[in-house]
This record gives sequence, structure tokens and C-alpha cells, in this order.
Amino acid sequence: MKGLIVLVVLSMLCGFGTSKECTNTPTQLSSHTFRYALLSSENETWKEEMFAHYHLTPTDDSAWANLLPRKILREEDEYSWAMMYKNLKSPLKSSGNFLKEVSLHNVRLDPSSIHWQAQQTNLEYLLMLDVDSLVWSFRKTAGLSTPGTAYGGWEAPNCELRGHFVGHYLSASAQMWASTHNDILEKQMSAVVSALSSCQEKMGSGYLSAFPSELFDRFEAIKPVWAPYYTIHKILAGLLDQYTFADNAQALKMVKWMVDYFYNRVRNVITNFSVERHYQSLNEETGGMNDVLYKLFSITGDPKHLVLAHLFDKPCFLGLLAVQNGSLSRTRTEGEDVGGRLKTYQVSTPIHTSLSVIGAQMRYEITGDPLYKDIGTFFMDIVNSSHSYATGGTSVSEFWSDPKRLASTLQTENEESCTTYNMLKVSRHLFRWTKEMAYADYYERALTNGVLGIQRGTEPGVMIYMLPQHPGSSKGKSYHGWGTLYDTFWCCYGTGIESFSKLGDSIYFEEEGEAPGLYIIQYISSSLDWKSGQIMINQKVDPVVSSDPYLRVTFTFSPNKGSSQASTLNLRIPVWTHLDGATATINSQSLAIPAPGSFLSVNREWSSGDKLSLQLPISLRTEAIQDDRHQYASIQAILYGPYLLAGHTSGDWNLKAGSAGSLSDSITPIPASYNEQLVSFSQDSGNSTFVLTNSNQSITMEEHPKSGTDACLQATFRIVFNDSSSSKVLGINDVIDKSVMLEPFDLPGMLLVQQGKDSSLAVTNSAADDGSSIFHVVLGLDGKDGTVSLESGSQEGCYIYSGVNYKSGQSMKLSCKLGSSDPGFNQGASFIKILDLDENSDDRTEYASVQAILYGPCLLAGRATSDWDIKNVSADSLSEWITPISPAHNDHLVTFSQRSRHCTSFWINSNTGSGNNSPLHSIFMCF
Ligand SMILES: *[C@@H]1O[C@H](CO)[C@@H](O)[C@H](O)[C@H]1NC(C)=O
Ligand SMILES: *[C@@H]1O[C@H](CO)[C@@H](O)[C@H](O)[C@H]1NC(C)=O
Ligand SMILES: *[C@@H]1O[C@H](CO)[C@@H](O)[C@H](O)[C@H]1NC(C)=O
Ligand SMILES: *[C@@H]1O[C@H](CO)[C@@H](O)[C@H](O)[C@H]1NC(C)=O
Ligand SMILES: *[C@@H]1O[C@H](CO)[C@@H](O)[C@H](O)[C@H]1NC(C)=O
Ligand SMILES: *[C@@H]1O[C@H](CO)[C@@H](O)[C@H](O)[C@H]1NC(C)=O
Repeated sequence: MKGLIVLVVLSMLCGFGTSKECTNTPTQLSSHTFRYALLSSENETWKEEMFAHYHLTPTDDSAWANLLPRKILREEDEYSWAMMYKNLKSPLKSSGNFLKEVSLHNVRLDPSSIHWQAQQTNLEYLLMLDVDSLVWSFRKTAGLSTPGTAYGGWEAPNCELRGHFVGHYLSASAQMWASTHNDILEKQMSAVVSALSSCQEKMGSGYLSAFPSELFDRFEAIKPVWAPYYTIHKILAGLLDQYTFADNAQALKMVKWMVDYFYNRVRNVITNFSVERHYQSLNEETGGMNDVLYKLFSITGDPKHLVLAHLFDKPCFLGLLAVQNGSLSRTRTEGEDVGGRLKTYQVSTPIHTSLSVIGAQMRYEITGDPLYKDIGTFFMDIVNSSHSYATGGTSVSEFWSDPKRLASTLQTENEESCTTYNMLKVSRHLFRWTKEMAYADYYERALTNGVLGIQRGTEPGVMIYMLPQHPGSSKGKSYHGWGTLYDTFWCCYGTGIESFSKLGDSIYFEEEGEAPGLYIIQYISSSLDWKSGQIMINQKVDPVVSSDPYLRVTFTFSPNKGSSQASTLNLRIPVWTHLDGATATINSQSLAIPAPGSFLSVNREWSSGDKLSLQLPISLRTEAIQDDRHQYASIQAILYGPYLLAGHTSGDWNLKAGSAGSLSDSITPIPASYNEQLVSFSQDSGNSTFVLTNSNQSITMEEHPKSGTDACLQATFRIVFNDSSSSKVLGINDVIDKSVMLEPFDLPGMLLVQQGKDSSLAVTNSAADDGSSIFHVVLGLDGKDGTVSLESGSQEGCYIYSGVNYKSGQSMKLSCKLGSSDPGFNQGASFIKILDLDENSDDRTEYASVQAILYGPCLLAGRATSDWDIKNVSADSLSEWITPISPAHNDHLVTFSQRSRHCTSFWINSNTGSGNNSPLHSIFMCF
């Protein structure tokens, strides 16, 4: 009976195969951000206007028809049909010799790594989420009682997308559990599954969602509705992950029941109307339905699941991709979901249609149909070659823009972070199929520069939606800005919690064979319990710093008892390194290293004394923005190995050609000790705590800033010791009785200066220093523990002084104690020196006080007070620098977090070639 249904549906599919309508008119509605604003609005006129043409305007059908390669389409359908038939008769066969993922259960990140820290931050957030709040709207929909309160934002009880985050939560918690085996998390996620199961039971049809099925009636009737299948995909994927990673059999049962329900819905649409009508309804975003259904089929082998997966493929697009014609211009990037959003690949005309590239990739894995492999390859190629920033990210306001015209797109609404999440999935599949290094390089780039920084330091549950690429913009300042714990839940929150739950993924891949093989494609401190290799592998990576330009990795081994099996390790030699200075040793015996971009293979019967070490040189390099217009050729990114750098400067600067013609002549490491010299000064007044702040080069007291804000940066100073024997500022004793200068962190090379008795303090260029910048640090005049006062170096008895009972914005001046009638003088001249505005940071001694997170596809830049430029930079000759970039592009991206974990930094020499390093500019990479 089951088989019969399948045949009926499929033959209809084929019968209508050539008349599918694949797209609708592009409108702003394709943006989730816009849709949310619209649906939250009370302006009915606006809503009517926006929905007036919803799905109804015929698209440029003729353009589509012309593009539609009917012949291929038919063949493609026939092929599916044949594959289908084959699968019905014989069990599924593996479609290729793909690398296998290793289970997250067997990988553990090392607590010394920034990846572990990011995972931990995410774990804290997952544990803060409340079961009753998560399932609130599901219970409401099922007519069950609703203890607790519902969450807000895109999970609010009146938001049509509600429930999507719960699906992501199920995926994220399953993967996090596999990665940590945190028992509390396991209890919580199982409780969510049980609660959802009760909802499904109560409704009794198989339907399970936080919104009523009426949304699907609208969907099928081609009426306005916000992507109900998008959310259903998340829930299905989440439940399936609960089964896959946490063996929750109940979750799999729930998935099957849900899929039965939707299978019947789709069948009804097709039988009551037509397949065409079904495809027409799919013009509203449907998430990665195909992806999750292919996965389900690989578990159940139920042909119904395969058929339904095909029905969410929108085959008419596959033909277009198959002939490799098209660009992504003005196409919705559909960032946040697996197969769903980024999968959207559309030719010529805009809008989110639904070719799931990731779903298509899954189809290739399941059916072996090479067409679907080509689709993924072609798609990756287009995005990577024409739409990617130096971060590896893509998209502008949730759309793709014109290919190779990215210089015009640098703004705050770039790089929807869920798109990066999807691109990682696409590249990961391609790597597994091909073992081509370019995909591993891409993975590292996008993960490092596009994912790790979307959390606000170590603060749980604060993430961004977009990653601004505009010169001078902060990543916290975009339309959405930083999210909140319980009231945003944007699409990128869902993918965010998943990303940070699977950081142990894609470090190692297995290869089956006579001797088992392992591909190590990322250098992240971690351990792998490699089951088929019968060995425990420990990977230790030294933190990368600017002063020691090498990536150093050491592997040690513990074979399982009684194991005497040879296996092969394939170590990635990244494309960003070079052989000069590279070494690989095994137990001090050196190995020949192949060219960057290939793998170093070592076959051996590993024993517990073995030590395999790699030392790979890291250098600075530039990369042009993806823009083929020559006037933008000077917009370049500066990278240090895999790390994208962005900049800070106190004024004009040009990156000039040095005589040696090398980037490293212009850019030299900042001593690591500088990170240990950062301080903030706070003081209580009234009921508030204020901090000494550089406010546009005057000095004021401002409210204690929130972490991750520009204000934090402005309240951070570097202690510059007048006496070179001092260096660290770990405790108060390191500064008492010392002569120091204070350099605002955001204005490298400038100093806080006195302008005379009773005059305000200022910030000026250190080059003009006449001694007015020297302060003597003494024990706080107020006599309290742990306070300091800053006495003028030239005018004894005069101190940096705020006054008492002031409000934020209080201007600071130099005031003299003698003759002061102010009874609060001692108090107003005493500060608590805070080493780090982040009191929770536990690795502060080494890195924590450098707190900027800076991203950008542009060159170094940032807080420049006027134009800067880089000229004539080419890959082989970096010797000719500098020329003004057009005004729109002359600043840089900077982003700050007070809770970052690791930094390395460089000076930009304003005067290269002379050996005279004038520290006016610096660039950083921080996490
Ligand atoms: C409502 O939307 C219409 C159409 O966009 C606009 O012209 C009008 O100003 C809006 N009204 C209010 C009160 O914002
Ligand atoms: C389609 O057909 C089914 C089964 O006959 C019926 O229950 C359902 O109401 C129909 N749906 C629509 C939208 O006409
Ligand atoms: C892609 O399709 C367009 C429109 O039909 C056509 O002009 C163009 O030549 C095609 N390009 C390729 C590479 O086939
Ligand atoms: C992406 O583009 C870069 C620059 O053209 C190239 O070096 C790299 O191999 C490409 N990567 C992929 C995965 O195609
Ligand atoms: C400080 O707090 C007290 C008690 O809450 C309140 O009465 C007082 O007005 C506050 N003072 C200021 C300056 O806000
Ligand atoms: C600095 O000046 C800019 C522009 O005048 C202003 O927007 C900003 O608020 C000022 N910042 C501070 C900390 O005063």
C-alpha cells in the first residue's frame, strides 16, 4: 500500500515536470528582518500594501521558461525515478568513498583553546534556557496548560516564526551533549522532547508546532504567511538530532509521525490541485525540508520519506544549476537554515526560491546522482569567487548582490551570520567528497573569522545577526545590534547556538581502507578517541601570537590496549603557510613537508611515546576585495595566516612601501607585554560607578560601560612606564610610586596630558610630549584599600581630580590639594584601578585585557581621523603601498568586546624602511 502511494505521487510529479513554476516576485518580504517589522506593525495600510502582490504577481515566467532546460529536467526526473525504483528494490548503497565524520562524542576540545571557551559560553546559555518557556507556545497550540512564561522576540506567542528556535535548541543541545556529556543539559533537552511529545499526542494528528496548522492552510492557499515549513524543518531536524546524537528513540517516532502528517498534506495539495500548485506554494521559504527528509530516509529507508524529500527539491532549479548558468545577484541568501535558506539558488531573477544546495548535497549522498554533486560544487564556487568577504562570509541585507562588486556593499547589514553557518555545511560536504584542500581552507577561514566572533566574548546568550563590514563600524552596531538572552531569538540565534555546539566537528575526518586513515583539517587543541584507528590522539596547539610567527602543533598518542594497527594521519598543510621555516618531526626525526595546500601523510603503528610536531610559518598577506572594478583594487584585507586583521589608529597614516618591499617591513609585532599594561580607573559617585574615559580626546568620568561597547574601549588605557625596568601591571604594587604615562587604548600613540593647574586634561600625540604626560602613581589619597591617585609629574601635590557627587560626563582636571577648600578632595582624586573591565575573565594575565574584536574585509583602518590608503599592493610585490581610497572606503571595521580571549597585534609603521617604528597605528586580531 505504501509503495502504491509512492508510485502515484511520483508519476504525477513526472507528468507535470515541465510546467513547474519556480519562483515568485522578489520583494522585501524575502527578508526576515523586514517581515518581522511588518508583522509587528500596527499599520494596516502598510501591511495591505506589502501583501497586495503576495505570490500573485506572475514572475517573469518567460525568462524562466527560456532558462529552463526542459530536456535535462526530464532526464533528471527520469533519473530520480530510476534511482527511486532501484532503492525500492534494493537497500541503500553508499554513493561514494566519502570521508566519514567522526562522532562528536569522541572529540573533546581542550580547555586552553578559544574554541572550548566559545563552546563553554554557549553551554552556559543553553543551560539558562527554561523548558517551560521554550515549549510554551507548543503547549498553547496543543491546548495544554502553560506553566511559566513565553519567550519574546521571534519566539513570542504572536510571532508566526515561533518554535523555530526550539528546533535549533534541540539540534544544538544534542550536539552540545555529544560534545560535553553535560548531564544537566541532557535532562533539560529530554524534558523538552517529552513536553513536545505530549503536545503531539494531545493534537493527535502527528502535527507538532508552536503555531496552529491554520498557517499551513494559508500556505497551501498561497496566502500571506511567514514560512511555516521553515520552522517545521527546524523542529524535524532538532528531533532527528536528538535521535542521532542522544539516542532518543521517542524523538525519531515523533519525526516519523510529523512527516506522515505533512506527507498527507502535500499529497492532498497535489491530488486536489496539482503538483504545480504544490511548487507554487513552495515559493514561500521552506527551510531545509529536503535536507532533513533525505537524512530521515537514510535512517528509515522508508521510500515515502524519499518522495517527500524530492517534492521539496523544486527540481526545476536543479536543471538550471546543472547547466551551470546563473548568478546569485539580488537573491535572498536565506542564511539561517541548513538546506533551506542558503540552498536558495536562483538564476537571474531574485527571490528566495527553494533549491536547497545542502539538501541537494544530501540527495547526492543518498542517491549518488552526480548532478547533485555538481550543483553543490558550482554553488560553492560562485559564492566563494564572487560574493565572499575576507571573513568567508557573504550577503548584504540578507540578499546576494552583484557578483564581484563587493566594494559597493560594505555597510552594517553584511554577512548574515546564519549564512556563514550554511556555507560551512556546504564546504564540509564538498571536502568530504573530494578531499580538496580549498574546502578545508574555506572552512577554517569562515569558522575563524565569521563564526567565532559572533558571540560577545564569554557572555552567554549575546550574539549578533549581521557582521558589519563597513569601514569604521563596530560589529555591535547594525540594525539588530547585539541580541538579548530571552527576547530576540532571531534566525541567527538558532544557528548561533548550533555553531558553538559543534566546534568539535570538522577537525577530524575518517577514511576507511585497509589501514584506517584520518584527515586532520583544523588545528584546534583537542583530543580524539579514534575508534577505528584504535588510538587516542591528543592535539595541542600553541596560541598564535604576532611575535612568534609560527603555528606550532604537537600530537601525542595513546593506543588502545592490545592494539597493534598501523594507520595513516593526513595533516593539512594550509595554503597560507610556506615551506621556508616549516618543519615536521616525528620523535625528533624530520619529515619532508609537501607544498602548502596538500596533506602530509604519515603511516605508522602509533605507540604511546610518539610525538609528532608541526611548525608552520605564518606570514602577513593581503587579499583584494572581490570587485573587478580597478578603482577598488586598493581595498585589500590584511591577513595573518588564517586570521583577518582590522585596525585602530589615532590619525592619518599611509601604509607606505618599505625598501625591502615586504608587508612585514610595514607591520611589526606589538610586544606581548603591552597586553599586560591595560587598565581602567573607576570611582564611585552618588549611587553609581564611573570610569575614567577618553571622550573624543577630552577626559571625563562616564558610567561604567556595558561590555562589548565602544565605551569600554574608551575607558581602557595602557600604562606606559617611564622607567623601562617595569613592564607588567598585574597588581597595584606594580604601579605604586612609578612614573607613568597613560595611552588611550583606542588611540595608540597618543597620551593623556595635563594642560596646567585647574585645567582640563586632554589627549594629544605623544610626539609633542613635553613632560606634561607624566604622572606619579601614589596610594589613594582617600586612604582606602586598593585605590590610587595620579599625581602630576611636574606639579607636585596636584592630582587628576573629578570632584564629588557628579554625573556622567564630568570633565576631569588637574587639581592641587594645597589650597583646595573641597572637603571631598581626597575622594575625588582616588580611583580604583581595574585591570580589566571584565571581572569574570580568568585568563587575564596573558591576554584578557586586550579586548577589541575587529573584523573587516578592508585594510587596516578604524578610528582614523582622516583618509588613509594603500596603493599598488599586489600579491608578489607588496612594496608599493598607499593611495587614498575613495572617501566611502577609507575607514575600517572595528569591533570591541571587553571579554575577548586572545589577541595578537602589530604596529603599522608610518615610516617604513627607516627602522624608526613610530607607534601611531596598530592592528589586531582578537577573539
Ligand atoms: C502606514 O503605511 C503607509 C504606507 O507605507 C504610510 O504611507 C503611512 O505613513 C503609515 N502610517 C503610519 C501611521 O505610520
Ligand atoms: C483535499 O482533499 C482532502 C482529501 O480528500 C480533503 O480532506 C481536503 O480538505 C482537501 N483540501 C483542500 C485544500 O481542498
Ligand atoms: C545563461 O543564460 C543566459 C540567458 O538565457 C544566456 O544569455 C547565457 O549565454 C547563458 N550562459 C551560459 C554560460 O550558458
Ligand atoms: C575560493 O577562492 C579563492 C580565491 O580565488 C581560491 O583560492 C580558493 O581555492 C577558492 N576556494 C574554494 C573552496 O573554491
Ligand atoms: C541614591 O540612592 C538612595 C537610596 O536608594 C536614594 O534615596 C538617592 O536619591 C540616590 N541618590 C542619587 C544621587 O541618585
Ligand atoms: C564624540 O564625538 C562624536 C561626534 O561628534 C559624538 O557622536 C560622540 O558621542 C562623542 N563621544 C563621546 C564619548 O563623547
